[in-house]
Amino acid sequence: MFSKVCKNIINQGARQYSSKKGLKVTVCGGSGGIGQPLSLLLKQSPLITDLAIYDIAPVTPGVVADLSHMDTNSNVTSHVGLDNLKDAVADTDVVIIPAGIPRKPGMTRDDLFNTNISIVCDIIKVIGQVSPHALVGIISNPVNSAVPAAAEILKKLNVYDPKRLFGVTTLDIVRSNRFIAELKCLNATDVNVPVIGGHSGPTIIPLISQCTPQVKFDHDVLVKLTKRIQEAGTEVVQAKAGAGSATLSMAYAGAKFTTSMCRAILGEPNVVECSFVESTVTDSPYFSTPVLIGKNGIEKNFGMGNLSDFEKELLKAALPELASNIKKGADFGKNYK
Ligand code: NAD
Ligand code: LMR
Repeated sequence: MFSKVCKNIINQGARQYSSKKGLKVTVCGGSGGIGQPLSLLLKQSPLITDLAIYDIAPVTPGVVADLSHMDTNSNVTSHVGLDNLKDAVADTDVVIIPAGIPRKPGMTRDDLFNTNISIVCDIIKVIGQVSPHALVGIISNPVNSAVPAAAEILKKLNVYDPKRLFGVTTLDIVRSNRFIAELKCLNATDVNVPVIGGHSGPTIIPLISQCTPQVKFDHDVLVKLTKRIQEAGTEVVQAKAGAGSATLSMAYAGAKFTTSMCRAILGEPNVVECSFVESTVTDSPYFSTPVLIGKNGIEKNFGMGNLSDFEKELLKAALPELASNIKKGADFGKNYK
């Protein structure tokens, strides 16, 4: 009897799940150091019913076979090579892009430009042709150049919607939250620091004066903490000693970002993420600030709020590098065929 009741409950559950269509998410670069753990985390989301893994690596069907044995309800599909990208992004709701090479010690993110921007552009072109309504998050570096390059390609296809294109800077927020929690003995999950600007060295501007809960640091500690947040990517690159950059913390941050997009599409109110987006908040045409996400992407840009004098100096230092990264990306996008 008990087992009959259990079986009925399980079957009802199965029917409920299979009849309820959730969202489709596509991970481009899904077989990589970020892509695999990101896909592992997304496979656990009840909001996602279809998870498409796209990569050029021959291991991709194996990654998908592996993920598909997890007893969660989403279907996972494998798409290898540019010819199969259309299927991966068809009818998708969210595309998240960690495709491209990572840094080695001694390299800047801008050193990845030549290899990674064309990888991102090839992917964006197909998204623009097949699923222009998807929300798209770019993880691949250099993020500061990849987003403007992607925007130019979408403009050429007449499908650019600035509300739907995001540079993923979530890892900067995740790191700031964690580092502050360590210094102040706080629960890291209770800490929230907005990080504005871009995603490279001095363009990463943590607004510690706006941290929740409020925290205070002596000036020398604040300077060191800010530097650590700005150089945290390099800290991981050096620790991995040639074997790549942050993958696990990035997968965690990428899953947070992607899940926020899904929650917003499904109608949850008050979904806010910091992200590198087209912007009029400063003189920089793309700039990261907290934005409110809704069903169709960005609904409101919350801007920077009040900056401390220290943060105003950080902003001043960030703008020239941002301008040059953005111009380089936009020029590439304009000339991309
Ligand atoms: P990785 O080399 O481990 O994985 C990259 C994956 O991309 C591989 O599976 C590779 O096959 C795939 N790929 C390469 N060219 C492709 C193409 N043309 N189409 C589809 N897939 C392709 O690298 P990783 O550690 O996962 O890092 C990926 C990118 O993410 C790097 O550019 C890195 O700098 C960036 N990153 C960004 C952040 C951030 O905060 N935004 C954080 C960490 C890493
Ligand atoms: C990071 O911040 O960890 C990434 O941008 C990867 C890198 O090259 O530092």
